[in-house]
Amino acid sequence: MDVHKITVYGGFGKDDSEEKVKEFSLEVGDIVSIVGPTGCGKTTLINDIELFANQNTPSGRRITINDEPVPEDFIFDPSHHPIALISQHTNFLSDLPVEDFLVIHAKVRGAGEVGSIITETLNFANELTGEPIMRDIAMTELSGGQTRSLLIADAVVIGHSPIILLDEIENAGIHRTKALELLKKYKKIFVFVTHDPCIALMSDFRIVMKNGAMQQLITTRQEEKKVVSKMKQIDDMMLNFRQIIRSGDELTEAVFKENFNVLTF
Ligand SMILES: Nc1ncnc2c1ncn2[C@@H]1O[C@H](COP(=O)(O)OP(=O)(O)OP(=O)(O)O)[C@@H](O)[C@H]1O
Ligand SMILES: [Mg+2]
Repeated sequence: MDVHKITVYGGFGKDDSEEKVKEFSLEVGDIVSIVGPTGCGKTTLINDIELFANQNTPSGRRITINDEPVPEDFIFDPSHHPIALISQHTNFLSDLPVEDFLVIHAKVRGAGEVGSIITETLNFANELTGEPIMRDIAMTELSGGQTRSLLIADAVVIGHSPIILLDEIENAGIHRTKALELLKKYKKIFVFVTHDPCIALMSDFRIVMKNGAMQQLITTRQEEKKVVSKMKQIDDMMLNFRQIIRSGDELTEAVFKENFNVLTF
């Protein structure tokens, strides 16, 4: 099935009160964020989307595809499942080398030029991580950040799923603004669960969650978009500081000022 639109109809929060956001839709090309404090139900919301909830989960939410209800017994062929979920806690069970894993996946997906697709996937993943992923390392030996970078790259480059749900990629030490810029080149729906203001403001709209319920839908206005480029500079500065600490150098006041003075606002 060709999925071009997903609609989420609101249900109930943790205290059984009706959700203020009654519905929202995701269409190809959309980038959306889910925000809110820890424990407010962000993961639950994307799980509802992934499960095509039909008033059969604790939230009572309902999901439609292309404005049609998803039939109760609708089972996707795994290679055509329209949703890829990069979850908060991911570990590989397979100890295959990275390259073998990607080759198998690419073949299952019927990819044509397997060699070049694997290279594109690894290059994409390595744009996101600090430590490059080697082709011959076992999947189980990848770090948390490397694992999620590889999963994102795999879902975007090899996978056919038009909808990609990403749960808190910032905590994995992934270069998030770079990730967003790379992702924008692919025509898909991206939903980010995030605590990161940069990701939130780079999105078309954000859903604010509270006590298990969708509280507000905020469209990113021009006013907020203007802040993004400034915030990216701060973000890059913080990434620089992180890199200095990571590589064992000292972050003195002089180094701090040198970085701070580059800010152009
Ligand atoms: N609408 C709801 N109705 C009933 N229970 C809910 C609802 N939303 C969330 N919960 C429950 O609340 C708990 C926390 O939710 P969840 O894990 O989705 O939060 P989170 O925002 O992802 O938190 P974190 O930021 O820590 O990852 C879970 O046990 C979940 O089942
Ligand atoms: Mg969560």
